[in-house]
Amino acid sequence: MTADGAAADGASADDAADPVAASAADRPWMRAARAAGLLDDDGTARPTIFAEMSALAAEHGAINLGQGFPDDGAPAAVLEAAVAAIEAGVNQYPPGRGIADLRHAIAEHQQRFYGLHLDPEREVLVTAGATEALAASILALAGPGDDVVTLEPFYDAYAAVTGLAGARHVTIPLSEPGFQPTAAAIDAAITARTRVIVLNSPHNPTGSMLAPEHVDRIVALAARHDAVIVSDEVYEHLVYDGRRHVPVAIHPGAAERTLTISSAAKTFAVTGWKIGWVTGPAALIDAVIGVKQWLTYVNGAPFQGAVATGLRMPDDTFAAVRATLQHRRDLLAAGLVEAGFSISPTAGSYFIVAEPPAAFGLGDAASSARALAADPGVVSIPLSAFGRPGGPVSPTALRFAFCKPEASIAEAARRLQQYRG
Ligand SMILES: Cc1ncc(COP(=O)(O)O)c(C=O)c1O
Repeated sequence: MTADGAAADGASADDAADPVAASAADRPWMRAARAAGLLDDDGTARPTIFAEMSALAAEHGAINLGQGFPDDGAPAAVLEAAVAAIEAGVNQYPPGRGIADLRHAIAEHQQRFYGLHLDPEREVLVTAGATEALAASILALAGPGDDVVTLEPFYDAYAAVTGLAGARHVTIPLSEPGFQPTAAAIDAAITARTRVIVLNSPHNPTGSMLAPEHVDRIVALAARHDAVIVSDEVYEHLVYDGRRHVPVAIHPGAAERTLTISSAAKTFAVTGWKIGWVTGPAALIDAVIGVKQWLTYVNGAPFQGAVATGLRMPDDTFAAVRATLQHRRDLLAAGLVEAGFSISPTAGSYFIVAEPPAAFGLGDAASSARALAADPGVVSIPLSAFGRPGGPVSPTALRFAFCKPEASIAEAARRLQQYRG
């Protein structure tokens, strides 16, 4: 497929007579795999780097600072609410938009933390994690001939779903220091072809937060070209050093064209529950439902009420999660610096981007991540997995996750400090 979704151009007359053969060179799964950089020349798809690195962690007994899942338990009240719901028989299909209690809790949360007013009946949709909210939003709004704009580096699902949609993926490079875009890069990326702009702040994989002037510029261009902003805010509560997360929807002119996505996964350390949500104008939510109902229809009935309990917890519970992770960020940052890495400061999220010391004598990021998994037994993710070949992403940088117990972080740091390549 060409990047602009013109794959069908190569179909032959024979292909056209046979609907299966017609798509053989470019089936939707292939577009998704290719867009995520996972399709081999022989037409087979490789596992994602997260799966590969987690398998290496198991094989080598390595400390896994790769995939961004926490090892901690969720808040007890949240876990107890899920158990109680299962025992009370909340085990059947919930309503299509999600149970009313959770939709109300999401609306209350947006009001409490950000002063955003939402109608829980029409402007809130519960999804199977943020992943489904992202997929359904992009699939609902973009198709062949359209551009989906993201920052680069980007969370891999954005590229895969854009490929699935048959749209063209255009990126706004983030550059050091601070992994911010330039005004010129924003202006170049967002055009009359742009249908969807996916933002993500705090940002995976860089840990940066998008400066407000860049958000304002993006909102103005979105308005000029009538594009929808899909704002992935799953790390909204994981912001450090006294920073405050400001949803894109708060920026002037943004609310009417922004779908805001979040999830219980990171805030409450329940990545396996897959309870996410998307909020925004009723007409846009209806469009997302138009796709979402054919993907999962509904999910996780007993977990939905438990997440409502979590969202209603007092402010100091959220502050405690933040403080714990900030401490772990500092531990990992200090350990990496001590081992000779140069790190980029993390404002939010679970991640630190670090360049290995030249003394390690490692090659590109993919080979160094594999080498470090085997010896000294520390797993990271190559930053290049979040970018495209020839793009702006450093070919040697690694992403380390600090959502792990202090003892694991300390041991990883000790191993890296003793490693001399
Ligand atoms: C930026 C970003 N968006 C979305 C997700 C997926 O969230 P969920 O597990 O709720 O589907 C992740 C998970 O790592 C993420 O980092």
